[in-house]
Amino acid sequence: MPQQPRKILVTSALPYANGSIHLGHLLEHIQTDIWTRFQRMRGHECYSVCADDAHGTPVMLKAQELGITPEEMVTRTRAEHHQDLLDFHIDYNNYYVTHSEENKQLSELIYNRLKEGGYISTRTISQLFDPEKQMFLPDRFVKGDCPSCGAEDQNGDSCDVCSATYSPTEMKNPRSVVSGATPILKDSEHYFFDLPQFEEMLKGWLRSGAIQEEMANKLQEWFEDGLQQWDISRDAPYFGFEIPGAPNKFFYVWVDAPVGYMASFKNFCDNNGVNFDSFWNKDSDAELYHFIGKDITYFHCLFWPAMLEGAGFRKPTGVNVHGFVTVNGAKMSKSRGTFIKGRTYLNHLNPEYLRYYFASKLGDSVTDIDLNFEDFTQKVNSDLVGKVVNIASRCASFITKKFNGKLSDSIENPALLAEFQQASESIAESFEKRQYNRAIRDIMALADKANQYIDAQAPWVTIKDGTKQELTHQVCSLGINLFRVLVTYLKPVLPKLAEQAEAFLNDSLSWDSAQTELKGHGIEKFKALMQRVEIDKVNAMVEDSKESLAPAKPAADPNSPLVKDPIADTISFDDFAKVDLRIARIAKAEHVKEADKLLRLELDLGGETRQVFAGIKSAYQPEDLIGKHTVMVANLAPRKMRFGLSEGMVLAAGPGGKDLWILEPHAGAQPGMKVK
Ligand code: 2FM
Ligand code: ZN
Repeated sequence: MPQQPRKILVTSALPYANGSIHLGHLLEHIQTDIWTRFQRMRGHECYSVCADDAHGTPVMLKAQELGITPEEMVTRTRAEHHQDLLDFHIDYNNYYVTHSEENKQLSELIYNRLKEGGYISTRTISQLFDPEKQMFLPDRFVKGDCPSCGAEDQNGDSCDVCSATYSPTEMKNPRSVVSGATPILKDSEHYFFDLPQFEEMLKGWLRSGAIQEEMANKLQEWFEDGLQQWDISRDAPYFGFEIPGAPNKFFYVWVDAPVGYMASFKNFCDNNGVNFDSFWNKDSDAELYHFIGKDITYFHCLFWPAMLEGAGFRKPTGVNVHGFVTVNGAKMSKSRGTFIKGRTYLNHLNPEYLRYYFASKLGDSVTDIDLNFEDFTQKVNSDLVGKVVNIASRCASFITKKFNGKLSDSIENPALLAEFQQASESIAESFEKRQYNRAIRDIMALADKANQYIDAQAPWVTIKDGTKQELTHQVCSLGINLFRVLVTYLKPVLPKLAEQAEAFLNDSLSWDSAQTELKGHGIEKFKALMQRVEIDKVNAMVEDSKESLAPAKPAADPNSPLVKDPIADTISFDDFAKVDLRIARIAKAEHVKEADKLLRLELDLGGETRQVFAGIKSAYQPEDLIGKHTVMVANLAPRKMRFGLSEGMVLAAGPGGKDLWILEPHAGAQPGMKVK
């Protein structure tokens, strides 16, 4: 069905200007780019913008470390980021920077309107201050001993050992990460945004379908905990925009960062004659979508819509949240070479491999996406080289050599072509809903059909039979037409391959071209459109990404299953023999209100009950666990956690998220039995 042209503005989260683009960023930029390209192919007026997120303490300190001004650093990093993205064929209408005149003006405008609306107040608060550097310290720039378990060298906001969260002022033996000095407490006046006034509006907005249901449920918890006033100011020295009428006070980076979406678009509009207001006015008929990672949902689904509402602008139509990238089933690791920068990837591999692989795995949920190198190699080689490109390479040479490079006037099996064409709307719907994995599955099923058809017709046999020349011509011409439809569907994912295919076909492909067919049409000589992935190149990329680091810190949470790091250092058999593994019956299981990952379990050891906090919430509902038998480490020293004492550990394994499994012995196992 032809649709009415829509006006759409799309953004990706703005990368910080103090680090390189890596695979984690790329998942999001590729997801956004595929969606944007798809919308443009469908004929919609779709713009996409992004920028570098320039402000804040980490950028300021990194520039100092490098001996350059923050402005200089941001200019350099922005150019580097932009080039990395372009080389992955990520095509923003504008890639700007938040340290811009447009952003300053828009941030001030929004702030002034919020102030006039009565949403800004001031209050004096006490914070840790570095007396040597003469600066207030953000939480992550303070280290010290955990106030809960006493573990040394913990971050200023949470403990890696016992998972406690706290304020840096509660830490024992605090020290400034910047200078090493002992911080002092110092008062300062801060500016606050009155988020609670927007509670009802936000609840309504979230109910409007602006965000995936699983995230909306998570957001519900924030309302239950009660919305808080948001501290939007930071004291000098700070790299950012000064707050109007407040000398030496600066907007916290998360105030002007989302305004950076508007500012990047404003800069684009001013240079290209597009009407900015028609996208941002309260009564705008344009759609606005933000693509973000799950870690920054809070900012995009509470503060940002409230700021927009309070300042009289429209709110986002949707915030599309994705999960994190893991590599080979584990968190990206610098020592293992799986923390891969975009540039390192590009030095070894074709960007379209990654675009295709991510697309084949991306759905509309917030599930983490695992890049498994074996699967990556196999999938790209089998799907793209072995199926899609193969269709053209099997048919093209006969057309060129035997039929003067011209396709036949009619095709052999119109029903097959019609089947490919009829898939258009359903594949479009998958792209529209960001179910790229479903689109790819359907496209590959068609590619299989095309190959089966060519196998059955065997043009390499019929070409030798003088009576079957017309048949061979029609079969190969159909093959080329089927290839053309598949490339059309894949064009949002593989723009470069599509471009080369367009040159080969002498044609340009829009979504609707799938509904037409090439008859009596001249094509060019076929050149290989894509090389196979070579595992040696993957390995070389991993080698290049390895950084030698100090010995790894202890596992983040002693009660978490070992999901992060499958290849641990070896231990002796005697060490292993010390572990007392016992069958336990899960007598009770419940959520721990303050913990994202933990469930509280009561384990029956046959005569003794133990309480264990287990990091398996992502994979199990408490009610599904009750009554199950499992295996626990019974002689682990008890650990005091914020929620209570954890008296052992439940064994579980898996890459993480939903894919995590506790050991389940057969029903005959008795609680308390020793596991040998
Ligand atoms: O988390 C981050 O990397 C931030 N720089 C994202 C900012 S997105 C937007 F709000 F600007
Ligand atoms: Zn602790």
